[in-house]
Amino acid sequence: GGPTRRDFLYLTTGIAGAVGAAAVAWPFVDQMRPDASTLALASIEVDVSSLEPGMSLTAKWRGKPVFIRNRTPEEVKAAADTPLSDLKDPVARNANLPAEAQATGTDRSAGEGKENWIVMIGSCTHLGCVPLGQAGEYNGWFCPCHGSVYDTAGRIRKGPAPENLPIPPHEFVSDGVVKIG
Ligand code: FES
Repeated sequence: GGPTRRDFLYLTTGIAGAVGAAAVAWPFVDQMRPDASTLALASIEVDVSSLEPGMSLTAKWRGKPVFIRNRTPEEVKAAADTPLSDLKDPVARNANLPAEAQATGTDRSAGEGKENWIVMIGSCTHLGCVPLGQAGEYNGWFCPCHGSVYDTAGRIRKGPAPENLPIPPHEFVSDGVVKIG
């Protein structure tokens, strides 16, 4: 058989610094990685073809609500016209952006040609309540628990929540169907 856990720990104690830390972390990460069948189940496809501009629905993904909203041109413009300096959290929090843009990107829409669509995890970044849609001062979302106000791009504008509502990985697999996860 292979080395026992005791042997493994003994061996890694002899390796200096970062290399040792990485060697210890690896088996844990490997154990936590879901297999392919779990990942397949973890994505959902949502039919949004009946959502006219101004309408939204809430789907459920990995146990969390996901807000999908077809924004009106006015709502898209209101979000786009907001100077970044007005934002408490000027980072997109958009898992769809390429890795190099994750820390600095500002685009929160569903991408080119889909700027009207916004797909977000519906969990307030303060303490996790579910915000109400088409509500609040910016006609975005309003969290009734402690009064956090999000705009039409789901960005935090007022109240105790520290971050914008996060955007999960998603893509339109056809014009009316969005895949999440
Ligand atoms: Fe939303 Fe506190 S949980 S404001």
